Amino acid sequence: MQLKQSSALVFGGAGGFGEATVRRLVAAGAHVVIADLAEDKGKTLEAELGDGVRFVSTDVTSEDSVKAAVDAAVEFAPLRSCVVVHGGPAAGRRMLNRAGETYALETFRRTVDIFLTGTFNVMSQAAAAMAKNEPGESGQRGVIVTTASIAGFEGQVGQTDYSAAKGGVISLTLTAARDLAPVGVRVMSIAPGTFFTPAFRMTEEDAQAKWGPTVPNPKRMGHVDEYARLAQDIIENDYLNGTVIRIDGALRFNV
Ligand SMILES: NC(=O)c1ccc[n+]([C@@H]2O[C@H](COP(=O)([O-])OP(=O)(O)OC[C@H]3O[C@@H](n4cnc5c(N)ncnc54)[C@H](O)[C@@H]3O)[C@@H](O)[C@H]2O)c1
Repeated sequence: MQLKQSSALVFGGAGGFGEATVRRLVAAGAHVVIADLAEDKGKTLEAELGDGVRFVSTDVTSEDSVKAAVDAAVEFAPLRSCVVVHGGPAAGRRMLNRAGETYALETFRRTVDIFLTGTFNVMSQAAAAMAKNEPGESGQRGVIVTTASIAGFEGQVGQTDYSAAKGGVISLTLTAARDLAPVGVRVMSIAPGTFFTPAFRMTEEDAQAKWGPTVPNPKRMGHVDEYARLAQDIIENDYLNGTVIRIDGALRFNV
């Protein structure tokens, strides 16, 4: 999929992975809509990157809000790529604690709503806009890249809501790719290991000291541009479809 003269949507575009992806897609010649809840960061990035970039205040859990972001992208140019990378830290408590208290059902629902239902909301609405594009080479109209996590394969203690939501994002990938094949829209997912982003709420030095040594090779956390490079490769390579790519330095979470 050609990025030049097309528009790209990045949900969570003001976050760690999101900002790196926005920068890459702009450098590759796309018009980019940053769709995020974080107004300050989004507007600062919009002002820095100039005319080809727009920030749209967006909540992925709302249909109307996502529609407004999709409409803004289509106004720029045909929407051909969409990266879904919103989110941030999840709660982190056992399903049943030592005092016999269960994990709050409302927190579980909210996590699934943001990470999984929000992803579906974005995918379906972006696909609807992409389906109206003129087909390019091999009948391609667009590509959607979602973000899972290696916790969607091997969730750690205290991650039932997050790993269930990310497992859902993983399972959605092939099914959505099959559903959207007739309109020429590809669907791929990236499952990152541990990457330093603002979601860690500590300095990079402290985070690297804590998590870097747990990664087999390279022995460090990932850099956000390593995620963004993969997202760009997926967008540009039409034969990648219906699967999840782990980017994790061979890290496998243990308990
Ligand atoms: N950082 C990691 O190590 C890591 C590993 C695996 C997966 N991930 C996944 O990558 C994604 C991004 O993580 P990050 O580390 O860049 O986090 P981040 O906190 O740096 O960025 C997340 C962005 O999403 C936005 N956001 C949150 N809720 C939203 C909503 N309802 N609607 C729209 N925007 C919303 C936030 O405002 C923020 O700008 C998440 O889905 C996370 O689970 C991260």
